[in-house]
Amino acid sequence: MGEPPVLTIDGPSGAGKGTVSRAIAKRLGWHFLDSGAIYRALALSVLERKVPPQDEEAVAKAAQEMALEFSSGDSGQILLAGRDVTARLATEECGRLASKIAAFPKVRQALLAKQRSFRQAPGLVADGRDMGTVVFRDAPYKVFLTAALRERARRRLLQLQAQGLDVTLDQIIKDLEERDRRDRERKEAPLVPAQDAVVIDSTELSVEEVIARILRLLPPDIGNKVLPVLAGSGG
Ligand code: C5P
Repeated sequence: MGEPPVLTIDGPSGAGKGTVSRAIAKRLGWHFLDSGAIYRALALSVLERKVPPQDEEAVAKAAQEMALEFSSGDSGQILLAGRDVTARLATEECGRLASKIAAFPKVRQALLAKQRSFRQAPGLVADGRDMGTVVFRDAPYKVFLTAALRERARRRLLQLQAQGLDVTLDQIIKDLEERDRRDRERKEAPLVPAQDAVVIDSTELSVEEVIARILRLLPPDIGNKVLPVLAGSGG
């Protein structure tokens, strides 16, 4: 009996990883890990507890102490010390600080066990930056999902506008560029495709097309089971 299978989906901000990973996990009946939410929750924790964000030791300690729960079921709720913080985590403030503290090796180390605990039968879809390169290096299925910067920014703009936030495309482009640069250039677990990852550029693809491509990478006894659902889902 080996470990349960993992499908890792890494890539830059706004490439559609969240939507695609969640949908695939649901169709396969597998567990889902939103590792970015863990870094965002730590950012929120640091803000609320007034931990100095440039102090690696202090932030790593906050990571160890963080009481974070992902509710099971479809709600996608994230609880920090029992409080629902799902909406707060989606803010740019948390995203920006998450990407700063994510550069600290001790912080990444402190969050490893939490992330690995999601690997449970029948399988796991793991969404992040270093799922295939570090956290689940032995995963049998790896995808690196990317898209042109402008398209990623356009998608993010639509998401934020749907949440009633007042932002411009230029602001988002600047923000994504800065975050991507930090994620790519950091020494520890930089954002790069794993050597054995399949790179998919989603710039010209619909969500359904991306999902179908990824499902085709899985062995037929796993991927084929859910492909008919795709055909009937109407995109
Ligand atoms: O994916 P999301 O935008 O929620 O992630 C927020 C930030 O957390 C990223 O910009 C990145 O710096 C960090 N992160 C990471 N490793 C992961 C997931 C997220 O460094 N596996």
